[in-house]
Amino acid sequence: MEGANFFNKFANAEFALDFDSVLLKPGKAVIEPKDVDTTTNFSTSIKLSIPFVSSPMDSVTESRMAIAMARRGGIGVIHRNCTREEELDMVNAVKRAESFIIRDVITINSNANITDVLSIMKRHNISGLPVVENGKLIGIVTNRDVRDEDPSKKVNEVMTKEVITANESITEDEAVSIMKKNKIEKLPVVDKDNNFKGLITYKDVKVKGKYKNALRDDEGRLLVAAAISPFDIERAKMLSKVADQLLIDVAHFHNTNVINATKKIIDEIGKPVIIGNLGTKEGVLDSISILDDGVAGLRMGLGSGSICITSDVTRAGSPTLYAVSQAADALKELGAKIPIIADGGMKNAGDAALAIAFGADAAMFGYVFAACDESPTPLLELNGKYYKKHRGMGSKAARERGAISDRYADSGGKKIAEGIEILVPYKGRLDDIIDELTGELRAAMGYAGKRTIEEMKSAEILRINQRPRKVE
Ligand code: XMP
Repeated sequence: MEGANFFNKFANAEFALDFDSVLLKPGKAVIEPKDVDTTTNFSTSIKLSIPFVSSPMDSVTESRMAIAMARRGGIGVIHRNCTREEELDMVNAVKRAESFIIRDVITINSNANITDVLSIMKRHNISGLPVVENGKLIGIVTNRDVRDEDPSKKVNEVMTKEVITANESITEDEAVSIMKKNKIEKLPVVDKDNNFKGLITYKDVKVKGKYKNALRDDEGRLLVAAAISPFDIERAKMLSKVADQLLIDVAHFHNTNVINATKKIIDEIGKPVIIGNLGTKEGVLDSISILDDGVAGLRMGLGSGSICITSDVTRAGSPTLYAVSQAADALKELGAKIPIIADGGMKNAGDAALAIAFGADAAMFGYVFAACDESPTPLLELNGKYYKKHRGMGSKAARERGAISDRYADSGGKKIAEGIEILVPYKGRLDDIIDELTGELRAAMGYAGKRTIEEMKSAEILRINQRPRKVE
């Protein structure tokens, strides 16, 4: 009977709560918020000092954002709305940012001219290049050597030939003292036969000591993740050699073609990847049943982002809190431990705390981080107020950039926009935003009476009709 069918459908529909429908239930605090432990997991191999991740969107995460995030102990996921080479450059820029001895140094030949030097420096945002021939260091050329020179001059006419160098056994303190004494910013590292081995920069060594919770690899380089398409195996191969974690970035991961293509990528690169976005328990179970221990993390939430219109134009979606709890249910059923990343629609760390209470290990933000200096978009002024642009990767403008179209399934006809462009009020430096988020999270955990992220997963919640009324 039709009526009964309709009634059943309605009665059996799950209740998909999101941020505005719940509050954290206060619990007895046994420690003060300042003593809360915010360490958590981003993936099966990466631990974070704070549970915050910047979204792989071209208005949010390029190298500058990823560097700033890793310094604070979160992580940035470099977007993929660009060529493979551009994405690789961004990942390399993060890896190069703070290593003590930089190994994959960009060098130049003495026959190149000043125009080449300037264009390389601009592309990689660096201020000097060691001059290397047949593997041997023969000079160094810096901004100062080229800025007032005729652009057609050759490198060997302007470079410094008497280079102060170090050998590989040098310590950080020794390097700083040599650079200070000689008033230089760059110290090339060579072996006993003058073979070029790497570069130490003053800026990197000094900044390194400043960030105590930074995420670093064994060589002291900052950690970075990178978004990839399941259908671009070349990009995956290139990036897997440098990025610390790859993340398959599609709007709807629960799709046979996407899952099968991801399997091929995992087999090819031989490393687990974060998968998403997913919105249901079935999606998680189906994916893990095929990808098995190739899954390094689960990015959960569909259509709740600040710039998302997926659930407006398609009326399909999985609110972030619901999606997170679905992943937690699936993992419980499997007895598996895979980090869950809540993604979409979070405006502060209170929202992240709720996501954690539903089972998330980390929270991915687009809107919040798009607002700071380190996001890639320019600062705009409108009637005396400052803004930055944030845009959905399914927006018309983002798609026009070209590389992102396979984030969305082919609907066979005209490509529909699933995102919009918005202006977000400018919030200043990422450091300040992270301080604010960390403070909010600690306070939220204090109210819930939880000491660690793991404990926070058992925080109780209250269902409410709407957020408590505020005095305007
Ligand atoms: P927030 O709210 O933090 O959300 O800005 C960021 C997340 O939104 C997702 N995203 C999109 N979703 N259409 C969508 O439906 C889009 O065009 C789009 N672009 C990004 C993505 O999961 C991101 O992390």
